[in-house]
Amino acid sequence: MDLVRALAEQAEACAAMGSPMYADLLTRVVEALEGGAEDGAEDGAVLRTVLAGHEDAPGPSALGLRLLGSVHRMVLERRAGALAAYYPSVGGTWEPDGGWRAFVDLLAERPDEVRSWLDRPPQTNEVGRATALYGGLLQLRVRAGDLPVRLVEIGSSAGLNLRADHYVYLDDTGRRFGPDDAGLVITGAWQGRPLEPWPGLRVVERIGSDVMPVDVGSTEGRLALTAYVWPDQTARLERLRAAFRVADSVPAEVRRAAAGDVVEALTTRPGTLTVLWHSVMWQYLSVEEKTRVLDRLDALGAATTADAPLAHLRAEPSRRVEGGPHEFLVRLTTWPGGTEEVLGATVGHGVPTTWE
Ligand SMILES: C[S@@+](CC[C@H](N)C(=O)[O-])C[C@H]1O[C@@H](n2cnc3c(N)ncnc32)[C@H](O)[C@@H]1O
Repeated sequence: MDLVRALAEQAEACAAMGSPMYADLLTRVVEALEGGAEDGAEDGAVLRTVLAGHEDAPGPSALGLRLLGSVHRMVLERRAGALAAYYPSVGGTWEPDGGWRAFVDLLAERPDEVRSWLDRPPQTNEVGRATALYGGLLQLRVRAGDLPVRLVEIGSSAGLNLRADHYVYLDDTGRRFGPDDAGLVITGAWQGRPLEPWPGLRVVERIGSDVMPVDVGSTEGRLALTAYVWPDQTARLERLRAAFRVADSVPAEVRRAAAGDVVEALTTRPGTLTVLWHSVMWQYLSVEEKTRVLDRLDALGAATTADAPLAHLRAEPSRRVEGGPHEFLVRLTTWPGGTEEVLGATVGHGVPTTWE
């Protein structure tokens, strides 16, 4: 796909997913590259210098989001001069004309600094998706009784959602779930079928893994995770910052490992419920790795017993039936038995999840 078309599609996606600011910015990037509007030729030259060498980036590599993530991290580090006044993530207010001028000025003055992050894949850890994972976990209580829980996550990025039981969730009727003293409250987390709480839920292990883990304890890791959140989505930013604080007091290991290897080594344990969960990572696996994961779970599940139950809980874009529309479905398979069901559906950034 050619670069301008990929950027235009990214602009539409940002508009559809609730970031008018990034929709504006990417639309103007497209116009400048096409050399249309007044000042277009000069702005286009600035952009071409910054994007040089990336002209053939494939659409899915999301060059637009890499560019905006790089600029955002300069804003967060207070290295972007006048542009910060337009970024809601640091207390500014977005305004398209002034914002665009300050954006192009930054690119013109500091092209190398902006370019230095163009090779990085955007790395996010979406705390909103804890609604799907924790809500799914609550529904396991009827199957597993009150067994303590081992959480094993693949593609966990920084592992923020391995602390999902330390967040508070308010459903659409205002019912509250989770601990009393949480520093992170997700409002409007759930709608549809009401859930039942799991008082006394005990998570005894939290094991994360990712091919590119982010160290949530480091300034660099936190900067990267924040930079790739869209700056006008302040609710997401607040959730992320609150999750950093929770992570300070709730340890969770995130190993550098591919999903296939982690699941290959997975075992169940008598007296505990083992939950393998994941969100928005399945699309990155090869067909072979997906098959490996599923085959291993089937084998492990077939051999397990009622006192060592196993669950596979996932919130992933998928289809209910072949040829049907893509949805962010929350699916659960449990063993012994291997029964699979769709529990509900979520949205890209996880809030709300609708239970069926
Ligand atoms: C879109 S992010 C989602 C992160 C997190 N699950 C969330 O929902 O916020 C996808 C993650 O999958 C990881 N990933 C990609 N391929 C993987 C693989 N083969 N094994 C494990 N993790 C992988 C990426 O490094 C990235 O952190």
